[in-house]
Amino acid sequence: METKDPVDVKSSKKFPLASRLVVLAFSVICGVYIFSICSEQVGVNTHSKLVDVKVFKQQCPPPPVEQWELPYLNYPEPQTFNREECACNPVRLFCIVSMQRSGSGWFETLLNSHMNVSSNGEIFSVVKRRENVSSILLTLDKVYNLDWFTSASKNECSAAVGFKWMLNQGLTRHHEEIVEYFERRNVSVIFLFRRNLLRRMVSVLANIYDKEVKLLNGTHKSHVHSTTEANILAQYRPRLNVTLMISELKLTEETTQKALVYFKNIRHIVLYYEDLLNNRTKIMDVQEFLRVPYRDLQSHQVRIHTAPLSMQIENWEEVQKALNGTPYQKFLYSD
Ligand SMILES: *[C@@H]1O[C@H](CO)[C@@H](O)[C@H](O)[C@H]1NC(C)=O
Ligand SMILES: *[C@@H]1O[C@H](CO)[C@@H](O)[C@H](O)[C@H]1NC(C)=O
Ligand SMILES: *[C@@H]1O[C@H](CO)[C@@H](O)[C@H](O)[C@H]1NC(C)=O
Ligand SMILES: *[C@@H]1O[C@H](CO)[C@@H](O)[C@H](O)[C@H]1NC(C)=O
Ligand SMILES: *[C@@H]1O[C@H](CO)[C@@H](O)[C@H](O)[C@H]1NC(C)=O
Ligand SMILES: *[C@@H]1O[C@H](CO)[C@@H](O)[C@H](O)[C@H]1NC(C)=O
Repeated sequence: METKDPVDVKSSKKFPLASRLVVLAFSVICGVYIFSICSEQVGVNTHSKLVDVKVFKQQCPPPPVEQWELPYLNYPEPQTFNREECACNPVRLFCIVSMQRSGSGWFETLLNSHMNVSSNGEIFSVVKRRENVSSILLTLDKVYNLDWFTSASKNECSAAVGFKWMLNQGLTRHHEEIVEYFERRNVSVIFLFRRNLLRRMVSVLANIYDKEVKLLNGTHKSHVHSTTEANILAQYRPRLNVTLMISELKLTEETTQKALVYFKNIRHIVLYYEDLLNNRTKIMDVQEFLRVPYRDLQSHQVRIHTAPLSMQIENWEEVQKALNGTPYQKFLYSD
């Protein structure tokens, strides 16, 4: 027993030691092998990516732009199509930030009459796309990568791509993440507001009414293309709730002021619908801002409410009385 024991102990010790060594050696060899394969693949990938980027940049001539513009240039590689002959044309990213009934529909048709501008509409009117920050960011990536298709998409030869975003469509709520995204991707913002918030209020109420009543042969229209249609829609004169009116005007003003503060560090331009209507050089300013070649831009939309407000508000005298002496008095008689 005594002689057996040490042998036993020895052999039982020796065997696991040997097997452990074998296993260890095996795993070291495997590890080295796997590591070498992995690093080789990583090496190949990095290498080919670097080569791709280099070749791409070599193929594209340096864009004829000023130094400050360079960070705003993008060369998207869409997943759904090839940019073909325009692959070397840089693309600028923009976002029209606005509120309902502020002329953004009309403004967007003007922009889209430019052969190199794609403004893809009110994409966040669909609730699912703004349910949470991740779905917002996914949607933005798709738009700015040119993989978003609407009737406005110019696809290959877009020089500026964007869409319009209403403040109440997740923009105010998620402003921190959105500002971060705009900073990272260097998106430029076009603010489009209305100066006369009382006229905007009339337009909001008339649009809500038309949604129910559908004045144009049973079809609801937010924008029209003929004066006949515009006149039919303008026949409806809303009655304003004078108790609510002033606080609503104030709220609208505050909402726009807040947005200007949130996005103050993002490259931006502030436009007012009234100025665009009355001063055609404003639309040149926009093209200058987007750095797209200058074109004469056209829209076929027709303004609905053109008459003095006294003819468009059912309880005009009451409204007039309520606003006299307030900061909003100026809205009563201006365009
Ligand atoms: C965000 O919303 C999308 C779309 O509705 C949904 O599929 C996704 O699960 C949501 N993600 C998070 C993190 O809540
Ligand atoms: C604008 O579009 C035209 C035609 O699609 C294209 O030839 C031109 O290069 C584009 N311009 C810019 C600045 O992208
Ligand atoms: C955005 O601009 C900054 C400098 O202003 C630059 O460092 C950065 O690379 C740009 N981002 C992109 C995606 O081009
Ligand atoms: C509405 O119907 C009338 C008569 O049927 C027609 O003349 C008119 O063009 C229609 N208007 C619109 C906006 O469809
Ligand atoms: C105005 O709005 C307030 C609050 O919603 C409501 O209590 C009041 O009845 C409204 N006035 C009129 C004339 O509709
Ligand atoms: C029209 O807009 C241009 C550019 O923004 C401005 O310089 C000019 O003063 C404006 N003209 C009038 C009459 O307001």
